[in-house]
Amino acid sequence: ADPEQLQDFCVANNPSTDTIINGFPCKPASSVVSDDFFFAGLSQEGNTNSRFGSSVTAGNVLSFPGLNTLGLAINRVDVAPGGVNPLHSHPRSSELVFVMKGNLLVGFISSANKFYSKVLGPGETFVIPKGLFHFQYNVGNSTATAITLFNSQLPGVWSAPLGLFGAKPEIPMEVLTKTFQVNSSIISVLESNFGN
Ligand code: GLV
Ligand code: MN
Repeated sequence: ADPEQLQDFCVANNPSTDTIINGFPCKPASSVVSDDFFFAGLSQEGNTNSRFGSSVTAGNVLSFPGLNTLGLAINRVDVAPGGVNPLHSHPRSSELVFVMKGNLLVGFISSANKFYSKVLGPGETFVIPKGLFHFQYNVGNSTATAITLFNSQLPGVWSAPLGLFGAKPEIPMEVLTKTFQVNSSIISVLESNFGN
Protein backbone atom coordinates (compact mmCIF):
# COMPACT_ATOMS: atom_id res chain seq x y z
CA ALA A 1 0.00 0.00 0.00
CA ASP A 2 1.04 3.60 -0.47
CA PRO A 3 2.35 5.63 2.49
CA GLU A 4 -0.13 7.68 4.51
CA GLN A 5 -0.80 11.10 3.13
CA LEU A 6 -0.16 14.27 5.11
CA GLN A 7 -3.06 16.37 3.80
CA ASP A 8 -6.66 15.84 2.68
CA PHE A 9 -5.68 15.89 -0.95
CA CYS A 10 -2.83 16.65 -3.27
CA VAL A 11 -4.10 16.76 -6.84
CA ALA A 12 -1.25 16.02 -9.22
CA ASN A 13 -0.24 19.22 -10.97
CA ASN A 14 1.02 17.79 -14.24
CA PRO A 15 1.69 14.07 -13.94
CA SER A 16 3.07 13.57 -17.42
CA THR A 17 5.68 16.32 -17.38
CA ASP A 18 6.54 17.10 -13.75
CA THR A 19 9.71 15.75 -12.23
CA ILE A 20 8.86 12.51 -10.44
CA ILE A 21 9.28 12.50 -6.68
CA ASN A 22 7.56 9.84 -4.53
CA GLY A 23 4.17 10.64 -6.05
CA PHE A 24 3.59 13.97 -7.79
CA PRO A 25 3.74 17.60 -6.64
CA CYS A 26 0.40 19.09 -5.59
CA LYS A 27 -1.57 21.66 -7.54
CA PRO A 28 -2.12 24.87 -5.55
CA ALA A 29 -5.36 24.39 -3.57
CA SER A 30 -6.79 27.58 -5.08
CA SER A 31 -6.77 26.01 -8.53
CA VAL A 32 -8.28 22.65 -7.54
CA VAL A 33 -11.72 22.16 -9.09
CA SER A 34 -14.46 19.51 -8.79
CA ASP A 35 -13.41 17.89 -12.05
CA ASP A 36 -10.03 17.03 -10.51
CA PHE A 37 -11.94 14.46 -8.41
CA PHE A 38 -13.98 13.12 -11.35
CA PHE A 39 -13.05 10.47 -13.92
CA ALA A 40 -15.28 9.39 -16.80
CA GLY A 41 -12.61 7.26 -18.48
CA LEU A 42 -14.20 3.92 -17.59
CA SER A 43 -17.62 4.63 -19.11
CA GLN A 44 -16.92 2.97 -22.46
CA GLU A 45 -16.16 -0.68 -23.19
CA GLY A 46 -12.51 -1.11 -24.20
CA ASN A 47 -11.56 -2.55 -27.58
CA THR A 48 -11.22 -6.31 -27.04
CA ASN A 49 -10.26 -6.87 -30.66
CA SER A 50 -6.62 -7.34 -29.63
CA ARG A 51 -4.40 -10.42 -29.67
CA PHE A 52 -5.34 -11.31 -26.11
CA GLY A 53 -9.03 -10.58 -26.66
CA SER A 54 -9.01 -8.18 -23.73
CA SER A 55 -8.63 -4.53 -22.86
CA VAL A 56 -7.63 -2.76 -19.65
CA THR A 57 -8.58 0.89 -19.21
CA ALA A 58 -6.55 2.39 -16.37
CA GLY A 59 -7.78 4.92 -13.85
CA ASN A 60 -4.57 5.61 -11.97
CA VAL A 61 -2.89 8.89 -10.99
CA LEU A 62 -1.60 9.35 -14.55
CA SER A 63 -5.11 9.54 -16.02
CA PHE A 64 -6.96 10.67 -12.84
CA PRO A 65 -4.77 13.24 -11.04
CA GLY A 66 -7.12 13.59 -8.03
CA LEU A 67 -5.90 10.14 -6.90
CA ASN A 68 -2.45 11.55 -6.08
CA THR A 69 -1.48 10.54 -2.46
CA LEU A 70 -4.81 8.77 -1.82
CA GLY A 71 -3.55 5.19 -2.26
CA LEU A 72 -6.35 4.25 -4.66
CA ALA A 73 -6.80 3.37 -8.32
CA ILE A 74 -9.54 1.81 -10.45
CA ASN A 75 -9.41 -0.02 -13.79
CA ARG A 76 -11.98 -1.39 -16.19
CA VAL A 77 -11.24 -4.79 -17.72
CA ASP A 78 -13.23 -5.99 -20.76
CA VAL A 79 -12.65 -9.52 -22.03
CA ALA A 80 -14.18 -11.11 -25.15
CA PRO A 81 -15.30 -14.76 -24.99
CA GLY A 82 -12.17 -16.91 -24.84
CA GLY A 83 -10.00 -13.84 -24.27
CA VAL A 84 -7.58 -13.37 -21.40
CA ASN A 85 -6.05 -10.48 -19.51
CA PRO A 86 -2.68 -12.25 -19.49
CA LEU A 87 -0.56 -13.12 -16.46
CA HIS A 88 0.79 -10.01 -14.76
CA SER A 89 1.48 -8.67 -11.28
CA HIS A 90 1.29 -5.30 -9.53
CA PRO A 91 4.43 -4.62 -7.49
CA ARG A 92 2.80 -1.94 -5.33
CA SER A 93 -0.76 -3.13 -4.81
CA SER A 94 -3.32 -5.77 -3.96
CA GLU A 95 -6.28 -5.90 -6.35
CA LEU A 96 -10.01 -6.45 -5.93
CA VAL A 97 -11.71 -7.89 -9.03
CA PHE A 98 -15.45 -7.10 -9.11
CA VAL A 99 -17.33 -8.64 -12.04
CA MET A 100 -20.05 -6.43 -13.51
CA LYS A 101 -21.15 -8.74 -16.32
CA GLY A 102 -20.24 -12.07 -17.86
CA ASN A 103 -18.16 -14.86 -16.34
CA LEU A 104 -14.46 -14.66 -15.61
CA LEU A 105 -12.05 -17.28 -14.31
CA VAL A 106 -9.81 -15.24 -12.01
CA GLY A 107 -6.67 -16.80 -10.59
CA PHE A 108 -3.35 -16.05 -8.91
CA ILE A 109 -0.26 -18.03 -7.96
CA SER A 110 1.20 -17.75 -4.47
CA SER A 111 4.89 -17.70 -3.60
CA ALA A 112 4.44 -21.35 -2.52
CA ASN A 113 3.53 -22.08 -6.19
CA LYS A 114 -0.06 -22.77 -5.26
CA PHE A 115 -2.73 -21.78 -7.77
CA TYR A 116 -5.91 -20.23 -6.38
CA SER A 117 -8.80 -19.52 -8.73
CA LYS A 118 -12.53 -19.06 -9.00
CA VAL A 119 -15.11 -18.50 -11.72
CA LEU A 120 -16.89 -15.24 -10.95
CA GLY A 121 -20.27 -14.03 -12.14
CA PRO A 122 -21.87 -10.58 -11.93
CA GLY A 123 -21.64 -8.98 -8.49
CA GLU A 124 -18.90 -11.33 -7.27
CA THR A 125 -15.44 -10.33 -6.06
CA PHE A 126 -12.02 -11.99 -5.84
CA VAL A 127 -8.94 -10.51 -4.18
CA ILE A 128 -5.42 -10.75 -5.59
CA PRO A 129 -2.83 -10.26 -2.83
CA LYS A 130 -0.12 -7.68 -3.52
CA GLY A 131 2.56 -8.60 -6.02
CA LEU A 132 1.21 -12.04 -7.05
CA PHE A 133 0.85 -13.08 -10.69
CA HIS A 134 -2.77 -13.25 -11.81
CA PHE A 135 -5.08 -13.24 -14.84
CA GLN A 136 -8.72 -12.98 -15.87
CA TYR A 137 -10.02 -15.42 -18.49
CA ASN A 138 -13.46 -15.21 -20.06
CA VAL A 139 -15.07 -18.65 -19.73
CA GLY A 140 -18.52 -17.44 -20.82
CA ASN A 141 -19.97 -16.77 -24.23
CA SER A 142 -20.47 -13.02 -23.99
CA THR A 143 -18.10 -10.15 -23.29
CA ALA A 144 -17.22 -9.93 -19.60
CA THR A 145 -16.54 -6.68 -17.76
CA ALA A 146 -14.86 -6.26 -14.39
CA ILE A 147 -13.90 -3.28 -12.28
CA THR A 148 -10.57 -3.69 -10.54
CA LEU A 149 -9.66 -1.66 -7.46
CA PHE A 150 -6.18 -1.02 -6.07
CA ASN A 151 -4.68 0.29 -2.83
CA SER A 152 -2.07 2.27 -4.75
CA GLN A 153 -2.37 5.38 -6.90
CA LEU A 154 -0.01 3.71 -9.39
CA PRO A 155 0.05 -0.09 -8.88
CA GLY A 156 2.58 -0.77 -11.67
CA VAL A 157 2.23 -3.72 -14.06
CA TRP A 158 4.77 -6.49 -14.51
CA SER A 159 3.54 -8.43 -17.55
CA ALA A 160 4.84 -12.01 -17.69
CA PRO A 161 5.00 -12.25 -21.51
CA LEU A 162 6.26 -8.70 -22.10
CA GLY A 163 8.63 -8.68 -19.15
CA LEU A 164 10.27 -11.98 -20.01
CA PHE A 165 10.18 -11.99 -23.81
CA GLY A 166 9.83 -8.31 -24.71
CA ALA A 167 12.26 -6.67 -22.26
CA LYS A 168 14.48 -3.89 -23.71
CA PRO A 169 17.35 -4.49 -23.89
CA GLU A 170 16.79 -8.24 -24.29
CA ILE A 171 17.49 -10.61 -21.41
CA PRO A 172 20.52 -12.72 -22.49
CA MET A 173 19.39 -15.84 -24.38
CA GLU A 174 21.40 -18.13 -22.08
CA VAL A 175 19.53 -16.79 -19.07
CA LEU A 176 16.18 -17.55 -20.71
CA THR A 177 17.14 -21.00 -22.05
CA LYS A 178 18.61 -21.99 -18.67
CA THR A 179 15.70 -20.50 -16.75
CA PHE A 180 13.09 -22.38 -18.79
CA GLN A 181 15.22 -25.45 -19.60
CA VAL A 182 14.45 -25.28 -23.32
CA ASN A 183 16.52 -24.58 -26.41
CA SER A 184 16.90 -21.17 -28.00
CA SER A 185 14.46 -21.84 -30.85
CA ILE A 186 11.61 -22.02 -28.35
CA ILE A 187 12.72 -18.78 -26.68
CA SER A 188 13.03 -17.12 -30.12
CA VAL A 189 9.41 -17.94 -30.92
CA LEU A 190 8.30 -16.40 -27.64
CA GLU A 191 10.51 -13.34 -28.18
CA SER A 192 9.21 -12.76 -31.67
CA ASN A 193 5.67 -12.86 -30.27
CA PHE A 194 6.48 -10.11 -27.79
CA GLY A 195 8.63 -7.71 -29.74
CA ASN A 196 12.17 -9.10 -29.41
C1 GLV B 1 -6.55 -6.62 -13.80
O1 GLV B 1 -5.91 -7.59 -13.40
C2 GLV B 1 -6.06 -5.28 -13.71
O2 GLV B 1 -4.87 -5.17 -13.37
O3 GLV B 1 -6.81 -4.32 -13.93
MN1 MN C 1 -4.13 -6.94 -12.30
